[in-house]
Amino acid sequence: MQYGHFDPDKREYVITKPNTPSPWANYLGSPEYGAIITNAAGGYSFVKSGAAGRIMRYVFNSEDRPGRYIYLRDNADGDFWSASWQPVGKDLAEYASECRHGTGYTSMKAEYKSIASQADYFVPHGKTYEVWRLTITNKSAKARELSVFGYVEFTNDSNYEQDQVNLQYTQFISRTYFKGNHILQTINENCINSVNGNAKATRVFALSGAPVVSYCGDKESFLGDYNGYSRPQAVQNGQCSGILNYCANSCGALQTKISLAVGETKEIAFIFGEKTTEEADALVKKYDNPAAASADIVELKAYWHGKLNNFTVDTPDADFNNMINTWNAYQCFTTFVWSRAASLVYCGQRNGYGYRDTVQDIQGIIHLDPEMALDRLKFMISAQVNHGGALPLVKYSHNAGHEDKPEDDSYVRSTGHPSYRADDALWLFPTIYKYIAETGDLSFLDEKIPYADKGEDTVYAHLLKAIDFSLNHLGVFGLPAGLHADWNDCLRLGAKGVSVFVAFQLYYAFDIMARFADAKGDTTTVADMQKKQAEFGAIIEEKCWEDDRFVRGFSEKGEVVGSKTNAEASFWLNPQTWAVISGFADTDRAKTILDKTYTSLNTPYGAKVMASAYKDHPFDGALAILFNPGVKENAGVFLQTQGWLVLAEALLGRGNRAFEYYRESCPSAQNGAAEIRRLEPYVYGQFTESDESPFMGRSHVHWLTGTASTVMVGSVEGVLGIRPDLKGLRVSPSIPSSWKKFSMEKRYQGKLLKITVLNPEGKEGCAGGVSKMTLNGAELKDNYVADADLRDVNDIVLVM
Ligand code: GLC
Repeated sequence: MQYGHFDPDKREYVITKPNTPSPWANYLGSPEYGAIITNAAGGYSFVKSGAAGRIMRYVFNSEDRPGRYIYLRDNADGDFWSASWQPVGKDLAEYASECRHGTGYTSMKAEYKSIASQADYFVPHGKTYEVWRLTITNKSAKARELSVFGYVEFTNDSNYEQDQVNLQYTQFISRTYFKGNHILQTINENCINSVNGNAKATRVFALSGAPVVSYCGDKESFLGDYNGYSRPQAVQNGQCSGILNYCANSCGALQTKISLAVGETKEIAFIFGEKTTEEADALVKKYDNPAAASADIVELKAYWHGKLNNFTVDTPDADFNNMINTWNAYQCFTTFVWSRAASLVYCGQRNGYGYRDTVQDIQGIIHLDPEMALDRLKFMISAQVNHGGALPLVKYSHNAGHEDKPEDDSYVRSTGHPSYRADDALWLFPTIYKYIAETGDLSFLDEKIPYADKGEDTVYAHLLKAIDFSLNHLGVFGLPAGLHADWNDCLRLGAKGVSVFVAFQLYYAFDIMARFADAKGDTTTVADMQKKQAEFGAIIEEKCWEDDRFVRGFSEKGEVVGSKTNAEASFWLNPQTWAVISGFADTDRAKTILDKTYTSLNTPYGAKVMASAYKDHPFDGALAILFNPGVKENAGVFLQTQGWLVLAEALLGRGNRAFEYYRESCPSAQNGAAEIRRLEPYVYGQFTESDESPFMGRSHVHWLTGTASTVMVGSVEGVLGIRPDLKGLRVSPSIPSSWKKFSMEKRYQGKLLKITVLNPEGKEGCAGGVSKMTLNGAELKDNYVADADLRDVNDIVLVM
């Protein structure tokens, strides 16, 4: 079933049926002032921390309530509705609704009894407050007298958990005041200095553009008994009570009255934030001028669209275009900026960046905003420990050079991470490579960056140390130990057991390091890396290959994981895809393992992370058994891995298969099956339930997931074949053979590339060579452009 459609020109998703199968959300602002809003106007806001800075209340795992509510009331007959379909929830036969989620803003249009309204919700770029701008028009044939009520529920404590459960304390620390144009909420009002870590805080809910005619600062008195958010007493009465909160629940409720002549339009704005009365007054003044809100929205669009325009495609597949041009890209920025901090699933409790998550997230935006990527990359390199391992969690307060680490009790206590993971630092190799290839900035390797605990080194030396860390943590057969986890949080292979996934990561790292060393003229390191790679390759071949598959690993007790002989979980996805990505598998081998992957793991919604699920025969470190079969790491379609699968098939030149996988999990391609997938059709989730679940196709954990970046890389480098290296750019698409033509525009090293790909013979890849490629009219040797030959604007035509 379809609940909406994409509007590619505006870069919006338009929800036309508001009763979506789950709350379909958007992200506003940034973690400095973050706001999540759903199509039902549910959601919450916070300052700096989703868990500790929560200022707008939201009840998790419930009914997508409360939120940012604007109630409209016809004063002639007392009938009322809301500017978003919920919370009043009028009969959809009489109530027209359209919710447009855009890049950094959400607009709700409604029409009921000939009153049209549009509520635009946004956090102005770089600001720490939010605006709900309401435009209201009388489309009826008579003059109308309306009331508008804005309603927000403040948390009583910035710590969201305290607000929800510690009522014997939090109800008694908050109160509200009316200040003419706003409700002011205070918390711990008497604490000018901090007491027990608590200090005075103030929040405001203000009205701009019209006078306040009644107000209320107490939730229960606004809602009344047993009315819920759909029939608040104040709205029924046509007036707020004027009661302020003292020892109950704070809210901000402001009423204004609006007279509308036939055809007349008026605009007002509600403003919410952690601000003082003086700041509220200034904001009210600013937004008294309707042009202020319009200018904010223009600025937001310019900011986001400017970034997204750095890489655009025009292919025969509209779903692919929707994702690459807007939604996958926007999700990459969202995960990059917000990490795994706050969503409708994550409450914001993690107090830092997951190392592997963040270093992978960076990969999703390098082609769109290399500078932004660089800042975070340096930050993450500075969270590598002097012995080469990486901090599993990098605190938001990270202080490079002075951090404690998993060896220290203090680190374990404050992060909950008791030891190193095998993969963390190894993600630096592909990410740094992508950054340098994209920008051409080889000198980055010579930049000095501190370690987390002590000392500093060049980036080049940091990378060598990451390799040392793996070499100093070898398990059986001298292959990389699995430690506390590898990429898979649910695989505990320990200090003696082996992760084959990490073995391929390390194999790949040797290759990248050798390329860097070669570029620097460091022949000793080139030789060393090549020697080690060959040695490790021989052990992998001898110990990890089994007829038609690479096994997943070896447990501490020496059991093989992912062997034909296993009663469960006998075939795993990641070692097959990474055998290809790392360059270890030759073409024949790659075909064998990827064909086996297709027959053993594929479902209509993507390939499972392994099969079958653990039920009765787990080994000791098989934590996946905790999950229901067909879910998450226990034989679910773990969506992050699909990007690697698309990439592996594409590297092999099998464009048809790559794209088949791409579409299986592409949100846009499932726009018509929302009742099955349930998640936003414009956003990837963390996983989809597989055929081992009774709810195959249902997806979970929206927005903040590594899926965004792996699928982006699989699409851009894999399908579209944009593969920069240290000296130039290869264009090697692996596409469906039905695509006869497509084009791309890419900003690259300060230049513009206009690339047209023609595929008259209906090929699916460039493995057998290309017919011809031209750069600005001149024919090239093959499908490779040297950076040095680029002009400011370049026309590249590839005939496959
Ligand atoms: C989650 C975690 C990520 C991990 C993955 C697989 O997405 O955030 O760190 O790699 O699960 O277990």
